[in-house]
Amino acid sequence: MKFRRIGNTEVSAVGLGGMPMSIEGRPDEERSVRTIHAALDAGVTLIDTADAYHLHADEVGHNESLIARALASYGGDTSGVLVATKGGHLRPGDGSWTVNSSPDYLRRACEASCKRLGVEAIGLYQHHRPDPKVPYADSIGAIRELVDAGKVLMAGISNADPEQIRLAREILGDRLVSVQNQYSPAFRSSEPELALCDELDLAFLPWSPLGGIARAGELGSRFAPFAEVAAARGVSPQQVCLAWLLARSPRVVPIPGSSRPETIRDSAAATELQLDADELAALDAA
Ligand SMILES: NC(=O)c1ccc[n+]([C@@H]2O[C@H](COP(=O)([O-])OP(=O)(O)OC[C@H]3O[C@@H](n4cnc5c(N)ncnc54)[C@H](OP(=O)(O)O)[C@@H]3O)[C@@H](O)[C@H]2O)c1
Repeated sequence: MKFRRIGNTEVSAVGLGGMPMSIEGRPDEERSVRTIHAALDAGVTLIDTADAYHLHADEVGHNESLIARALASYGGDTSGVLVATKGGHLRPGDGSWTVNSSPDYLRRACEASCKRLGVEAIGLYQHHRPDPKVPYADSIGAIRELVDAGKVLMAGISNADPEQIRLAREILGDRLVSVQNQYSPAFRSSEPELALCDELDLAFLPWSPLGGIARAGELGSRFAPFAEVAAARGVSPQQVCLAWLLARSPRVVPIPGSSRPETIRDSAAATELQLDADELAALDAA
């Protein structure tokens, strides 16, 4: 395993995205726990979750609770694992995703996430998505208060544009350590945010790095160069994709979702795959 930095914390260069284990199509808990344990066995020390990763209205925090149970039942040392969660998204239970970033709601959401994760302070708390009904500065101001109150150790933002990243940086200062935006071979329009993270020395966590739960399996058929490099290297197109993302910038820490031990093991191995300049050029152009 290779490592990268989020704020003052060293994490595995590839993390585990928890969403597929808690939303539509999720597996049973036994398989999910095996998946999380396989990630830990492979050296993964970053797990991304959110209170909104659940299916039914009455099970808010399903994914956070699952991760807490899996960490507790793991035989090895988990003290170096950074669990990064988020607040500000909601799932009313009809399949939709809604937002609430009022300061009062974020404070309550953070408190509830702490309880589910069984921690006094959340290692990395990310504002999930801007709420058009709430001034962004007010939402980010609430996150700042949570850091200053000791409920959150490091702050992140998600689904933010460059203007919002700069505003969050102004409000949070060094408390802001990461930006989590969508980025994959199919979705490259977060380039300006990635460049800004390089400039401001913020970690950049690409979400749905393989194209999302429904389309991750088609990556090689949708983007031929990923299949070609994969065949030449004897690895999966998904592993090539993660190695390509890692090569975009030293601040990139991909968080591929997984619901099977096999897939997270394969993804974790991407940290050992060094692509050469010709391969990277072909993938850039894909
Ligand atoms: N901030 C946000 O707004 C936001 C939005 C979406 C997602 N996220 C975060 O980002 C994470 C990743 O995004 P995502 O889960 O939507 O999509 P993704 O990572 O692009 O794709 C996930 C799917 O890829 C498959 N997969 C993973 N590694 C593989 C491999 N090596 N070979 C073949 N297939 C592989 C998994 O299959 P199996 O299920 O069969 O293992 C999984 O269902 C989420 O889990 C979540 O933590 C954040």
